[in-house]
Formats: sequence, C-alpha cells, structure tokens
Amino acid sequence: MDGATRLEAFKALAQIKDSSLLELAESLSRDSEESIRKEAGKIIAELRPNDAVGRWTRILENGTLGERQNALSELAKLDAVDGIIGEWMERLIEGRVPPELWLDVLEAANLRPALKALVRRFNDRLDQGSVLDRYRETLEGGDSGLGRKIFMERADASCVRCHKIGNEGGDVGPNLAGIGLRQTREYLLESLVAPNAKIAPGFESVALTMKNGSLHAGTVKQEATEQIVLNSPEEGLLTLRKTEIAEQQRGISGMPEGFGQLLSKRDLRDLVEFLTSLK
Ligand code: HEC
Repeated sequence: MDGATRLEAFKALAQIKDSSLLELAESLSRDSEESIRKEAGKIIAELRPNDAVGRWTRILENGTLGERQNALSELAKLDAVDGIIGEWMERLIEGRVPPELWLDVLEAANLRPALKALVRRFNDRLDQGSVLDRYRETLEGGDSGLGRKIFMERADASCVRCHKIGNEGGDVGPNLAGIGLRQTREYLLESLVAPNAKIAPGFESVALTMKNGSLHAGTVKQEATEQIVLNSPEEGLLTLRKTEIAEQQRGISGMPEGFGQLLSKRDLRDLVEFLTSLK
C-alpha cells in the first residue's frame, strides 16, 4: 500500500475508536511516512490529552520539518501553552528559528491573545515599508504539492488561466516552466505580492506617443538602443525608431495586484515552494 492509501485506512480505523487504537497509533508514530506519523500524533494527543503538550513540544524540537510545523499548529490549540509558544517567539525575535518555521511560530502566537506584545515586537523589527519584509515568513517551508493544487485548481487565483507550465495553461503571462532555476524565492514572492516591482521580459506594456502625433500601445517584444519592437493588439508587430518617440508611458503589469490579500500567507508559502520546484 502506498502512503496515501495507508493514511486513509488509518484514518478510517481511528473512527471506530477501538480500544487498541492507542497502541496502533503509538506504533505508527514511528512509521517511515511523515503523513502517517502526523496523524498518529493527533490521535495520541486526543486519547492522552494530559501528555499532549509534552509530546508536541518534543516533536517540535526533534521532528522533521513537516512534523515541527504540524506540532506548532496543534500546540496552539491546547491550553496552557503560552509559555512554550512565547519561548519560540523569543527565539524568532533573536533569529534562532529556521526560516521554514517562521510562519508557523507566528500563526501559533497569533492564536494566543497573551502573546500579542511579542508578535508586535517581532513586527516592529521589520521594515513595514518593504513588501518582502512584510511577507518574509512565506519565503521558505511551504508544501509544493499544496502549491501545485492552488496553481492548477483554485478558481479565485486562476494562475493556470494566464500561465503555462510546459504545455498546459494560458498565454497571457510567461510560461513558468523552469522558473525555479532562473529566479530566487525573493523574486518569485515579489512577483506574487508586488507584480509591478519587476516585469518579466517580453511582458512590459508601454504606450508611445510619436513626434508625428500617432499613438501606439502594446507589449515590448524587443528593445535596443535605436529601436523598439512593439507587439500591439491592434497593429501587430511594429518596429519604431526611438528618435521618433515624443513620449513614453510604462503600463502596469498584466499580473493582477492583490494576491497578497486574496491568498493566505500559507497559500503564498506553498506557491513559492511550488514555483521554486519548477526546474
Ligand atoms: C490575468 C492573468 C494572470 C493571472 C491570473 C496570474 N498571472 Fe502571473 N503574470 C501575468 C503576467 C502578464 C505576467 C508578466 C508581467 C509581470 O512580470 O509582472 C505575470 C508574471 C508572473 C510571474 C513572474 C514570471 C517571470 O518570468 O518573471 C510569476 C512567478 C507569476 N506570474 C505567477 C503567478 C501565479 C502563481 C499566479 C496565481 C496565483 C498568477 N501568476 C496569476 C498574468 C497573470
């Protein structure tokens, strides 16, 4: 049985609440498959609520990345964990938390009203004017499988309507095949939350007023010292001499603004991980 099938079988068994469930969960908490270890951990925490805090805390220190992220979100739901999560916030502020866990620590702390001041202290250290700083916790630690799902299936994001990866998808934006080789995580995140900061080559739109009074608008296909090649929806490919241009207005990105608000930070982190994986 593959991991996904075993996980489903285990979840179904857990519904029956058989007396041997705890034993089964204990043994599966050492399974080779991370998703199964996570599910086993949840069940043990439910069956043994008194041990749950200690258990999640140990996993948080020693688990794999996915298990540590999961431990933080499970811990945040329990009582009397302000101390532990507060300690992780302190570590975050001191720069002692790996970037893949930043978002998880912040999300856990945001669920605890007592930790408001610590969250504020962390945010105060960032440059709130910088887009990348405001979204820095989404740069690393995402789940590329979930990111792919958002890219391909989420109707409100509709990435695939405008972008191809390989052969599937739309042509409004650049083909993203191999983008993980060409661009950094910072660049990819910025493309999502501030598309106008940098425009992909071949997708800059421009409106030109020529000295003879004529107007041309389209995307810049090529630009050299003497001339500019414009792809205009009305006029097709145009080669224009730069000396003939009276005025030039840069257009905005064809990539919609607002994904920073539309998508959660988790979604953004998963998308960055997915885009980075396109090699
Ligand atoms: C309405 C069409 C449209 C949608 C929807 C759209 N994009 Fe874009 N995207 C564009 C265009 C046009 C560009 C090129 C202009 C630019 O770089 O800003 C672009 C640029 C990008 C780039 C930079 C590519 C490069 O080579 O520099 C990335 C990465 C990207 N989009 C990812 C996404 C993701 C992920 C989604 C879904 C959350 C998405 N886009 C949704 C149109 C779209």
